[in-house]
Amino acid sequence: MTADHPIWPARLNHLCLDTPDPEAMIAFYRDGLAMTAEEIGPGHWRLDGPERRILLRRAEAAGLGYAGFAIDDEAQLAALRVRIQAAGCEISDNPSPFLRQDAFAVADPDGNLFCFGAPSEALSVGSGIAGRLQHVVVATEGLPAMMDFQDRVLGTVTSDHVRADDGAITAAFYRSDPEHHSFACFGAPEAGLDHHAYEVPDWNAIRDWADHMADLRATSFWGPGRHGPGNNLFLMVLDPDGNKIEFSAELEHMPIDMAHRDWPHEERTLNLWGGAWMRS
Ligand SMILES: [Fe+2]
Repeated sequence: MTADHPIWPARLNHLCLDTPDPEAMIAFYRDGLAMTAEEIGPGHWRLDGPERRILLRRAEAAGLGYAGFAIDDEAQLAALRVRIQAAGCEISDNPSPFLRQDAFAVADPDGNLFCFGAPSEALSVGSGIAGRLQHVVVATEGLPAMMDFQDRVLGTVTSDHVRADDGAITAAFYRSDPEHHSFACFGAPEAGLDHHAYEVPDWNAIRDWADHMADLRATSFWGPGRHGPGNNLFLMVLDPDGNKIEFSAELEHMPIDMAHRDWPHEERTLNLWGGAWMRS
């Protein structure tokens, strides 16, 4: 922990996804990501695979329920809570069953819910192709307010900005430990979950995931390619709700005091190898 960044270090530990079709989602994450499913309440499931945990909640529309970030140190957690409250944001009860009692939650300006606390259970080791749940990204119509929340309220560390010709920021990448980003937000015409990502051991594992997803006839969405910000290799596929899932390798590491960089808003920034999914 540092005085300027009590969120450091924090790691994405689990995600809750709202889904109108839990049966199809359970089947996809079971067969596709080697996750076992257990119903833990009415319309509420936990899915566990090697170094990855997802919760599913039956809902009318697909989207991000919340993101659970692991902070093991009690003093660090308390300092983060103080910082958030001092910034004028309201702390709410933690909805995640996988964080301990002193965990708490806070919503960003778009209502995306971040939960912080010590995990109540270790992630499964299990078998299946390796891929640790590593980052989550949202789209927003109000990027300045979302960046203010990350910078001033949470105190995450900026790794990269993407800027339009007029200098306006169109995407921002944030780290909460040396991994280039555990969270990012993209300016877009519609707010919501942009994608979530699994960090895999190497390039060959991207190939293995691609072959595996092809066997399941999963819908390929983008890649393979290499991002500019983060310099990671990537492949994206769609789950049954249309959520974009990324398999990533070689994600850059940056120390806490390394300055952020600026990238031009162009396809080559988002994919050094070629065409890109442009959110705006
Ligand atoms: Fe990503």
